[in-house]
Amino acid sequence: MASDPAGRSSTGVIEQRSLESPLLALRREVIGVDERVPVLEGGLRPYVNFDNAASTPALRPVLSAVEEFLRWYANVHRGTGYKSLLSSRVFEEARDRVAGFVGADPGDVVLFTKNTTESINHLARRLAFGPDDVVVTTVMEHHSNELPWRRVARVVHVGLTPEGRVDASALERAFVENHGRVRLLAISGASNVTGYVNPVHDFARLAHAAGARIFVDAAQLAAHRPIDMRPASAADHIDFLAFSAHKMYAPFGVGVLVGPRRDFEQGDPDLVGGGTVDIVTLENAYWTDLPDREEAGTPNIVGVVALGRAVGVLESVGWEAIERHEAELTARALERLSAIPGVALYGDADPGRAPGRLGVIPFNVRGLSHALVAAILSYEWAIGTRSGCFCAHPYVKEILHVGAEDAEKLEREILARDRSHVPGAVRASFGIYNTAEEVDRLAEAVAAIAAGRFAGGYELDRERGEWTRPGFPFEFEKRFTL
Ligand SMILES: Cc1ncc(COP(=O)(O)O)c(C=O)c1O
Repeated sequence: MASDPAGRSSTGVIEQRSLESPLLALRREVIGVDERVPVLEGGLRPYVNFDNAASTPALRPVLSAVEEFLRWYANVHRGTGYKSLLSSRVFEEARDRVAGFVGADPGDVVLFTKNTTESINHLARRLAFGPDDVVVTTVMEHHSNELPWRRVARVVHVGLTPEGRVDASALERAFVENHGRVRLLAISGASNVTGYVNPVHDFARLAHAAGARIFVDAAQLAAHRPIDMRPASAADHIDFLAFSAHKMYAPFGVGVLVGPRRDFEQGDPDLVGGGTVDIVTLENAYWTDLPDREEAGTPNIVGVVALGRAVGVLESVGWEAIERHEAELTARALERLSAIPGVALYGDADPGRAPGRLGVIPFNVRGLSHALVAAILSYEWAIGTRSGCFCAHPYVKEILHVGAEDAEKLEREILARDRSHVPGAVRASFGIYNTAEEVDRLAEAVAAIAAGRFAGGYELDRERGEWTRPGFPFEFEKRFTL
């Protein structure tokens, strides 16, 4: 079948010639990957999902596991019926699989939560910080790895290099300046803004040498890089780790928190209630053993099964294939986007260094708001991206070089419900199933937008900071309703 330079065949379907098996086989297993969505000029186009850093789509093997399991589903723990016993066994099997997936120490416990954010809040409340205790974190963090620590400890922020990476010498200084007081270094494994991967094992070594421990927010890492927490005896091991299943092809509402059992055996559980106790009298409660004592109430059993299967799929595809493919997409995107006049890329935009980062690419088009560019990509090109500050305001402000005066002005505007000048970028983020042809479509779209070739008539909702196009034929009810 003939195709144009963007890889569109005469039927308008993007060919997937760039994918090698097993990734091509896997693309066919991505639920909804062939869905077509309306575009402004009329008709439907195949949807390109470049918002994988927010959430990845579900994989068919994951959905199949859920469907198969539901025939055997029952509440876990202490049920005596066959289905409850089976469900309990599968639930614990998933826990073991997750422990293996991250190379947890045998002394660690894997706890299931709702998402990374809940895992970090849980950990922050459980670590029992004293009034002088310091948590060192960085300017790079997602708000979920920033705000929970502010509630429980004094937070010291490590700054960035001019390229926007964590400044390792500033990190060393933070340990020296707060000697004896740093309990924890809380740092992301990879940035959801620039895709930078942090050398967490080097940082773990520094933290341990300073008498602190390290928590790694692996929300962005989990679906893109192998994770190895390493044995607790190793100087560079990771003490605590969190991630979310919805960013690794299992969007059924589960998060993970891993850490040493002893930290969760001390003190009272975070949430209390059913499942957390051995004995309750009208005066006392005696907490039960881990993991139950930290997983109050009925857990998300189906979500955990989905995660267990997703882990199996990622492992069978293999990290080498995943990393190679995503690096190729990233290099291609950096190369093509940087060649477009008027496009600014943030962070390290060298395609040659793509293997050292994740496929998360922030960019802007000169003279146009990031929110408008993202809207045009969606309405006119059927490309799903995300724009704004990506729940990382301090980091985005730094990489966009927003000065103190502008930042103050913006704060006033936002508090007055005007988000029309909020700085930010458009973010394209890749998953294992995306193709070079899809990257080319993004580049073609961005080139057209930068050259001023897009429809007029977009309107800004100042309060939300979002652009819409009146008259766009959403027709959501044609696609899905409850
Ligand atoms: C680096 C990072 N940390 C934490 C989170 C929060 O994850 P969740 O929304 O699953 O709690 C995200 C989500 O985008 C993230 O990218």
